[in-house]
Amino acid sequence: MKFMDLIVKEEELGKEIEGVFAEIMKTGQYVGGHFVDEFERAFASWVGTEHAISVSSGTDALKYILWALGIKKGDEVITPSLTFIATAETIALLGAKPVFVDVNPETFLIDPESVGKAVTERTKAILPVHIFGSVADMDRINAMAAKHGLAVIEDAAQAHGASYKGKKAGSLGLSAAFSFYPTKNLSVFGEAGAVTTDSREIADRITMLKNHGQKDSYYSVFLGENGRMDALQAGILLKKMKYIDSWNQKRRELASIYRERLSKVEEIKIQKIPEGVEPVYHLFVVLHQERDRLKEELKRMGIPSRIYYPVPLHLQPVFSYLKCNRGCLPNTERISSQLLALPIGPWMSKEDVLNVCKAVKKAVINLK
Ligand SMILES: Cc1ncc(COP(=O)(O)O)c(C=O)c1O
Repeated sequence: MKFMDLIVKEEELGKEIEGVFAEIMKTGQYVGGHFVDEFERAFASWVGTEHAISVSSGTDALKYILWALGIKKGDEVITPSLTFIATAETIALLGAKPVFVDVNPETFLIDPESVGKAVTERTKAILPVHIFGSVADMDRINAMAAKHGLAVIEDAAQAHGASYKGKKAGSLGLSAAFSFYPTKNLSVFGEAGAVTTDSREIADRITMLKNHGQKDSYYSVFLGENGRMDALQAGILLKKMKYIDSWNQKRRELASIYRERLSKVEEIKIQKIPEGVEPVYHLFVVLHQERDRLKEELKRMGIPSRIYYPVPLHLQPVFSYLKCNRGCLPNTERISSQLLALPIGPWMSKEDVLNVCKAVKKAVINLK
């Protein structure tokens, strides 16, 4: 069994993607063009925002949102530490200070109460992460942001299609970043990302930022970068978008088997999904006190699993200057020392999941 299987399985999808390659080879339209325009329209409509701007990665999506909002040296942005480096790296790259706060011990999502305590007069934004395909407590985060005049930026890199009180991740704050890295629920053959927003101003600014600050060809108004999405990746996304809802549904079905079979295993704690959230299970994660031994035992039985994130961001050397040392975020630290992701994805059958469940139960007993 593989932890992830990234091969295109659907025959029809494979043919459609070959069609994208064939058209692009014939037309020579490698950058921009109708695939990019169509993808942006389709993605905005699916997420439920006015605008979607295609960019070259999820990291760039985050960076361009922060950049467009004018986040700079001296500013603070509140974010969790239990996430991928890009979330906080982009804040720091713009010269601002990532202010790490703890997560809820059961949902693993940013804790709104800790966010409230971290607000200072330098705070400019809150950057919640919809971790593992669940969705943060956006009502409380938005209320806090409104009270203090802060921007809310969603990191939706792991939450394509997840929803909160009926609204999709990516439409719940001022602006959101998506990644289409190959392992994501919606993915490309390389690197790509997108920004969603209802703000015309942010959309226009990011459209220019990702294209050297150009207003017209060879006429730059401000500094920017080359951060565009390739036409090929846009074409692939467009074709894959027909399948994303059914892929997410399959993930939810598999997750419900995991929940049913593992919820009674006392030693295992499953990520709790908050009321009102429909998750997309980018990862199916559990906690176990002896996680490393459990992982080894599962490996011995031929079951792959992965650790997310072995070292939370506040304890990585890159952020040592923030002096948020061990003990500073107890829930985050405990979760990252106990968390194990079990295989999940549309490529798996119900039998596969039942086999993983059997192995987990057996491994837990063996460890006693
Ligand atoms: C939570 C989170 N944020 C940001 C990113 C960055 O996305 P990318 O790898 O497309 O730059 C990722 C993906 O790896 C992620 O998981």
